[in-house]
Amino acid sequence: MDKSEKLALTLSGMLLVLFFGAIMYASVAQNIEVPTCITDMEPFATDTLFQTGPDTYELQMVSRMWAFQPSTVRLPVGSTVDLYVTSQDIIHGFKVDRKNINLMAIPGAINYMRVTFNEPGEYLYACHEFCGAAHHTMAGRFIIEEGIDEPEVEGDAL
Ligand code: CUA
Repeated sequence: MDKSEKLALTLSGMLLVLFFGAIMYASVAQNIEVPTCITDMEPFATDTLFQTGPDTYELQMVSRMWAFQPSTVRLPVGSTVDLYVTSQDIIHGFKVDRKNINLMAIPGAINYMRVTFNEPGEYLYACHEFCGAAHHTMAGRFIIEEGIDEPEVEGDAL
């Protein structure tokens, strides 16, 4: 083996040991952990819909292969929803039919839009970013009705 090859190999080996040592030092001595996913943190991990005023709500929408959580959101007519969208795995899209809502659902990021539902009816939402084999099944709906006292969500746990 050439002398310079030996030197390069030795240096690479020493660097590997050095980097591994640095990782071990950070995790054991400094107790530093890798940041967790947004979707494992509050409020995405548990609650999805909060009432923030008489007609206003905050909705935490998680997208994943291949569903939205929640999959159904039932709200009274006249509701304004602050919509926070993120992804648990890969990039998805979030588009609400008949509303000017078109967001990307990106892992590690939260995207926001506000939407008001003044007309009763069903407003489908769907993933508009090709995300794999069951992309075409990735959808949900807002159900906007008169006379709802308790807003509700379905499809929390997948
Ligand atoms: Cu998610 Cu397409």
